[in-house]
Amino acid sequence: MKSLQKRNLLITLFLTACFCGNLPGYAAEPEKKVPQWFQHAFSVIEKQAQKMSAKVEKSSCLPRSIQRGMVSPTDWTSGFFPGTLWYVYEYTGKEEWKERAERATALLESEQFNAFDHDVGFKMYCSYGNGWHLTKNPAYARIICRSAKTLGSRYSYKTGLIMSWEEDDARDWQFPVIIDNMMNLELLMEAYKLSGDTTLRHIALSHADKTMKCQYRKNYSCPHVVDYDAETGEVRKFDWNNGSDDVSVSTWARGQAWGLYGFTMMYRETNDPKYLRHAEYIADFLIHHPNLPADGIPYWDYSGSGVSTLRDTSAASIMASALIELSTYSANKDYFKTGEKILKNLSSDKYLAKPGKHSFFILKQAIGNYLRNSELEGGLSYADYYYVEGLLRYFKQTN
Ligand code: GLY
Repeated sequence: MKSLQKRNLLITLFLTACFCGNLPGYAAEPEKKVPQWFQHAFSVIEKQAQKMSAKVEKSSCLPRSIQRGMVSPTDWTSGFFPGTLWYVYEYTGKEEWKERAERATALLESEQFNAFDHDVGFKMYCSYGNGWHLTKNPAYARIICRSAKTLGSRYSYKTGLIMSWEEDDARDWQFPVIIDNMMNLELLMEAYKLSGDTTLRHIALSHADKTMKCQYRKNYSCPHVVDYDAETGEVRKFDWNNGSDDVSVSTWARGQAWGLYGFTMMYRETNDPKYLRHAEYIADFLIHHPNLPADGIPYWDYSGSGVSTLRDTSAASIMASALIELSTYSANKDYFKTGEKILKNLSSDKYLAKPGKHSFFILKQAIGNYLRNSELEGGLSYADYYYVEGLLRYFKQTN
């Protein structure tokens, strides 16, 4: 065999092996067991996603929330619906879902170059990242690597951090970093695995290490924003943009979930026990918090009963997905039990939309930004995305 042919064959075999390890379509396997609440949840998900997909195809925009409706691919939330479609494809194995996911993902292609803020990680990992895991489409791998370079361009060697948002005189911010940024490190780690570019890995680890050291309080809660001195990298102040505006105690529920998910993911990607320990400390703080309601669906901020007026299903779904993953690395059985309880409760009529209602979002009672009175009607594409992801993780662990 000529050496070129041999090389091509080896590549084909390698790709086939990767692909076969991750074949979608669990739902069709008769020996798989799923509880009734799970079956019901997935039937609602499929119905809502099908209708929402029709809206996407008509508008070339992506769903964000009931209040803001469909948004352009530049919006930070644009990757969540394509990602949800990839998860539905993964579960059902049906070609029609793959095609929907491919079409929605393609809308985001130009975002690989958008260095305006850190959200390129959310956008491109949820869409192209999930697409890559399921299809091994080499074009997706190239876009992931390019997107990671775009995110890396916001890294500063002086601070050791990625700058989440731009400096802002009105807020007196020089180098703002938000806890949500932990989520975007997954794109860097994926691109590092694909390209071998160790700079991307260095950036991810440096950002995670400094966040762990500087953003967390002694009790393992954190504020939404930390502003750093852009020259020295010292912390200038804790601040808020979401959650409670009392920054000495503010414990924004979605922010705590972003951190829990981010450090769990960093343990998965590095095997470094310090990330596992940190994720466990956050999880312990959250699941034993006196202000966490018995059903596990948190209020929008944990920091006091005075501000705790509305539940946030987006924080709940991110937390559930993270806890289910964390339970696979940790001896603590409470993580799985709490993740399961949250997913079960989210799948009840109280939180799960009725098919055809709720503007085709899946979960009700999700909170965008309570104090800014923004997106309070309760349909958010990221609440839906992490809910579906959490269900899939639950399914894989129980089958
Ligand atoms: N990443 C923005 C938010 O969680 O509201």
